[in-house]
Amino acid sequence: MASAFVYGKIVGENNFTNREKDLERLLMNFENGTNTILISPRRWGKSSLVARAVEQAAHKNKRLKFCFIDLYNVRSEEQFYEQFALEVLKADSSKLEDLSNQAFKFIGRLLPKLIVGNMPGNEVSLELDWKEVKKNPDDILNLPERLSLDKNYRFIVCIDEFQNIAGFEDQLDFQKKLRSHWQKQTRTSYCLYGSKRHMMMDVFTSYNMPFYKFGDILFLEKISGEDWLPFIIKRFKDTGKEITEDAALEIIALCERHPYYVQQLSQQAWLRTKKICNQEIVAEAHEGLILQMSLLFQTITDSLSNTQIYFLKALISGENQLSSADTLIKYRLGSSANVKRIREALISKEIIEQQNKEYVFLDPIYRFWLKGFYFKI
Ligand SMILES: Nc1ncnc2c1ncn2[C@@H]1O[C@H](COP(=O)(O)OP(=O)(O)OP(=O)(O)O)[C@@H](O)[C@H]1O
Ligand SMILES: [Mg+2]
Repeated sequence: MASAFVYGKIVGENNFTNREKDLERLLMNFENGTNTILISPRRWGKSSLVARAVEQAAHKNKRLKFCFIDLYNVRSEEQFYEQFALEVLKADSSKLEDLSNQAFKFIGRLLPKLIVGNMPGNEVSLELDWKEVKKNPDDILNLPERLSLDKNYRFIVCIDEFQNIAGFEDQLDFQKKLRSHWQKQTRTSYCLYGSKRHMMMDVFTSYNMPFYKFGDILFLEKISGEDWLPFIIKRFKDTGKEITEDAALEIIALCERHPYYVQQLSQQAWLRTKKICNQEIVAEAHEGLILQMSLLFQTITDSLSNTQIYFLKALISGENQLSSADTLIKYRLGSSANVKRIREALISKEIIEQQNKEYVFLDPIYRFWLKGFYFKI
């Protein structure tokens, strides 16, 4: 039997809830050829949302072609071009022979070497003459546009974990190259998504950055309690069990509506339930979840400096004026300039985030663990 709740994977139809407005907006952008930038913290549902929108759009309009590029383990400009070229070619041709013909026709100048795996499931990969590409990446960056013209369709290139380009050498120069090519294209649009909100914001909303005003920026929110409640109740029902409304509300509250954790805690509670899940079972499941995560949390905490840990303690203790003289002394935070540095480091590590004027934890279970098991307050 399929699992009642899904986490750590892209969620399909049965496990996908809410996001109607975001879906609509993405579909409209795909249809109109508008570029989209989708931003949210880790594990809030970016990849799932794009996957769902692509599925629906491709079903509705057969002249749209999609290609997915995941920059998860792409660390250099060189790797980027190889992955970009390969995925674009794969989306264009489903047959290897066709793919190879197209590669030589459109990027032959760059002497592509196609390597075909000989094991089942072993896919084709591509090597480019890096010296040539570095001199002139035009053929690569214009590849989707030229292919779509050749076969008369429209391309939508989806690039996940886009924040990784910040780690490339000469990243600004690289961004300029991307932007100058992509903005001229009329048959190709881009959906760029990733976490690290401050970095993504910097790239896409700073006036002096190449990607300024590149497209429609969409900030994904958490899923609301009103959407989670019927979803959890229904998933229990559909899988032959039940959950009380209070227990479902408890799951939502403990996870602060965090999409990944709501599904994970629901699944843990579901596994512990024979027939009806109540608040007691949820509490046990929650404790189990914290214990399960504690090794990871310990490792994260070990990687922090003392002042960063003191800062988190101040935050958990509800201190609002983190730079006030009292707080600086009480939590041994040093100067207020130091507090600024600590804050920036914790934001860059994706541990906290600024929301309105407050700093909040991105991981509600980590906050719980720090409070109850680490600081014991
Ligand atoms: N619309 C949704 N309905 C229900 N659960 C969801 C939804 N979107 C995401 N989730 C839950 O959150 C988990 C993470 O989703 P997903 O991988 O799409 O997020 P992400 O933002 O791409 O994460 P990452 O930043 O790690 O790439 C899913 O496995 C699922 O448990
Ligand atoms: Mg993702």
